[in-house]
Amino acid sequence: MSNIEQTLSIIKPDAVERNLDIEIKSIFQNQGFKIVKEKKLKLEKSEAEQFYKVHETKPFYNDLCEYLSSGTIVVMILEKENAIKSNRNLMGATDPHKAEEGTIRKLYGKSIDKNSVHGSDSPENAKIEIDFFFKN
Ligand code: CMP
Repeated sequence: MSNIEQTLSIIKPDAVERNLDIEIKSIFQNQGFKIVKEKKLKLEKSEAEQFYKVHETKPFYNDLCEYLSSGTIVVMILEKENAIKSNRNLMGATDPHKAEEGTIRKLYGKSIDKNSVHGSDSPENAKIEIDFFFKN
């Protein structure tokens, strides 16, 4: 049975500042993802805190929110069969040093913080994250 899903993808400041957004978008498209919506923006720190609220008890929360709000990001709704899992496979492990060959984080990530891309980790979070950026 077909399971077309949408997921939220963010190209993070480290990648946008190296002008990798076009290249990363073409990787998604070449892997069969449709970019349904996209926008380029810079978050306030308070907005990053809201976006990453699930991590608020983690020791890295403050640095994470500082970082996501430190520069321009590109946010996209990606659509594909099993988009959530498929995107996570394509991104690779959170820590680029542990990411598999050929994954986006292995190719471009610099560190666990500057890991170039974010992708929703479940259908529930995909809906919350898509609404966060694209609900009018
Ligand atoms: P992301 O997929 O955007 O979700 C949360 C982010 O927290 C993660 O990518 C990492 O960039 C960042 N992070 C920083 N330290 C850690 C850690 N120890 N474990 C998991 N994520 C971390």
